[in-house]
Amino acid sequence: MEPKKKIALVSGGNRGIGAAVAARLAESGVLVLIGSRDLAAGQAVAAPLVAEGGEAVAVQLDVTDDASVAALAGRIAETWGRLDILVNNAGIGLDHDTRLTPVVRIARTLEVNVTGTLRLTEAMVPLLARGVSPRIVNISSELGSFALRQDPDWEHADKIMPTYAASKAAVNALTVGYAQSLAGQGIKVNAICPGYTATAATNFGPDRTPGEAASAIAALALADADGPTGGFFNEAGALPW
Ligand SMILES: NC(=O)c1ccc[n+]([C@@H]2O[C@H](COP(=O)([O-])OP(=O)(O)OC[C@H]3O[C@@H](n4cnc5c(N)ncnc54)[C@H](OP(=O)(O)O)[C@@H]3O)[C@@H](O)[C@H]2O)c1
Repeated sequence: MEPKKKIALVSGGNRGIGAAVAARLAESGVLVLIGSRDLAAGQAVAAPLVAEGGEAVAVQLDVTDDASVAALAGRIAETWGRLDILVNNAGIGLDHDTRLTPVVRIARTLEVNVTGTLRLTEAMVPLLARGVSPRIVNISSELGSFALRQDPDWEHADKIMPTYAASKAAVNALTVGYAQSLAGQGIKVNAICPGYTATAATNFGPDRTPGEAASAIAALALADADGPTGGFFNEAGALPW
């Protein structure tokens, strides 16, 4: 019997690292649901993937919106009946937005990066529980690591972004918590830092491309039964918390 085609949902799949992860998964034979606040932007990412022979469907998704998340969960249940991979990629960083007060910066950042990750995860767990080798991959950041922040020789020591760092530390805490609470349902949950990558979030400054960042993320999403759970990684291996 043919193995079932895996079904993945990528939040923030319409650009940057999320779009590259969607492409990498589609190339690997996964049916990818490209979560996008603006459906047309998701469709623009899906179209070339489909033209190249992949399976990709743009779906409306705002991780801060209960109705959007519930509608998507309902649609996935009705259309596919299960989900195998959830990539919690949608994320923002507002530390450098001087128009906002620090209180507004952290409130908005936590709403997307932390509460949004939790909202989407909670809605998708019943579908993942029916999935094949179900995996949740949370896109975190080295900036959320307490250990690296305390290392003066760390290559990103100059990047002081306390509200973003707090949100990613919380994403790491959610990762550990869900890895434990979902283990009984066979769902593996890991966090990964994509590396400092050229996207709108970094003003396209670094040399690293989203495609380079996507490889390790896709590999973690497709990890087999021997794969880790409850870990924090970058492409080189385990990261300190
Ligand atoms: N780039 C880096 O160097 C780097 C390093 C470490 C970690 N990361 C993490 O990697 C992830 C992707 O970032 P990126 O660099 O690719 O940034 P990006 O190009 O700015 O993309 C961010 C994505 O998140 C989406 N998004 C924002 N708010 C959302 C919401 N409420 N609901 C759903 N989607 C929402 C955006 O959608 P819209 O187009 O609608 O705004 C966009 O698709 C983030 O979690 C980021 O923190 C990035």
